[in-house]
Amino acid sequence: MFACVAIVPGSFDPVTNGHIDVIERASRLFRTVRVAVADNSAKRPTFSRDERVGMLTEACGHLSNVTIGWFDGLLVEYARAISAHAIVRGLRAVSDFEYELQMAHTNRCLAPEVETVFMPTRTDYSFLSSSIVKEIARLGGSVEGLVPDGVRQRLREKFDQRAS
Ligand code: PNS
Repeated sequence: MFACVAIVPGSFDPVTNGHIDVIERASRLFRTVRVAVADNSAKRPTFSRDERVGMLTEACGHLSNVTIGWFDGLLVEYARAISAHAIVRGLRAVSDFEYELQMAHTNRCLAPEVETVFMPTRTDYSFLSSSIVKEIARLGGSVEGLVPDGVRQRLREKFDQRAS
């Protein structure tokens, strides 16, 4: 185990089992992991920041070295504020790589002391995204096995609310 602090940042709108897999694996590699909820300027969130933090807190309750937080502004500033050494990002497919590499280079340019670590997702989650999960739930399909149980319930409530 590296004696250091890692951030797993994301919009987590909502957290999926693919995210949980990356968080669990990061928690075995790093002394402390901070999962950090942020808004991606390219996306409009379905769940509020508090809802996203709440779902993550519940889903990561079994991981003793993982804490949940949120930030506005630059990721690297947040990394500096909590003295993080590494940013962990999951990679599902080659199509993720271009954007992730650009983000890693940008973050490195802004804060060379913070390393980006890419973690390939499990093959069986390689198709999974928060958007796919929301699409299934919105159209009344089952998201069992794709998201933590608490998130399944929240998705149902969110889309039932919208339909009524
Ligand atoms: O789950 P996502 O949507 O892929 O997460 C993207 C996120 C939130 C990690 C990214 O948009 C981000 O780091 N936002 C904070 C603003 C920032 O630091 N931008 C410069 C990096 S390119």
